[in-house]
Amino acid sequence: MNEYFSESVDGFQAIRFDGQRLQLIDQRRLPAEEVWLDVGSAEQAGRAITDLVVRGAPAIGITAAYAAVLAARQRGDDLAGWRADMRQLEQARPTAVNLSWAVRRMCEAVEQLGRLDPESLAELAVSIHREDIAANRRMATLGSELIESGSGVLTHCNTGSLATGGIGTALGVIVAGVRDGRIARVFADETRPWLQGSRLTAWELARADIEARVIVEGAAAALMASGQVDWVITGADRIAANGDVANKIGTYALAVLARHHGVRMMVVAPSTTVDADTASGAAIEIEQREAGEIWRAAGLEQAPTGFAAWNPVFDVTPAELIDAIVTEQGVFEPPYRF
Ligand code: MRU
Repeated sequence: MNEYFSESVDGFQAIRFDGQRLQLIDQRRLPAEEVWLDVGSAEQAGRAITDLVVRGAPAIGITAAYAAVLAARQRGDDLAGWRADMRQLEQARPTAVNLSWAVRRMCEAVEQLGRLDPESLAELAVSIHREDIAANRRMATLGSELIESGSGVLTHCNTGSLATGGIGTALGVIVAGVRDGRIARVFADETRPWLQGSRLTAWELARADIEARVIVEGAAAALMASGQVDWVITGADRIAANGDVANKIGTYALAVLARHHGVRMMVVAPSTTVDADTASGAAIEIEQREAGEIWRAAGLEQAPTGFAAWNPVFDVTPAELIDAIVTEQGVFEPPYRF
């Protein structure tokens, strides 16, 4: 399986599934080393998602789909046990809707069939992966076409091959825009506390031979004031029905800064990230992670004794600050109706 994938078109493949075995590149260890982890059960897959071995909304969804296949092989005829595995898997992270979307799709297939059939579930999981690859390609074209020649762009977090099945969402647009000659300058926010920008986006851009510069988050306002950026381009973890966007913490700040400086804001995400059941961003659960992640990212072995932290890892950007939302179904502009 996975023979549908082409590294030259679709970027690096961070999730490998050969019909039996699931392997994930350990994103916590990039760019220092490329370590692959074997994932043998839905429980292990859930832990890999919680621990950020694999992260990024579409990649989490694809991993969950493959995990459902592993669980079906383990459970045999035990449908109730499999359903319990799926409920557990869905809890691995709360904000990215792609996780529950993928689990629901696998569950619906099982309910239709009335039993566990690992082979047909494997086919479905592979088609979920393939659909994401195709969506990435389409979004890359649509998003890139919005960008005027000679533009500068700033992106946040990691939204490339590591975060998706294919070339990426926001980063896919950026790669296409550079290759089309529309984008002349690329900046990547380092993205605290896990440094997805400086560790992962920089790693992907270097592999793609794209010249770019990393900035610390605090430099975004000065960068925009310098006139070097025309678009902020990000992905999304969940898009509410009214166009509010939950994405990596710091996205909201970039959107506010962008509006102040006359810079446009583009959000790129597959339709699997649009959550029609959530009316607005206020209803999106924002994941909070432990304070220690901030201290470790700061290079400190431990927190000063007793020091607490507020560590939400996503925020909500109001729809009115977003100029365009690009999905594989088209380019949406305010007022958002999907
Ligand atoms: O905590 P992470 O690394 O999973 O957060 C990822 C993001 O916020 C991405 O921008 C989002 O999932 C879109 S990935 C195509």
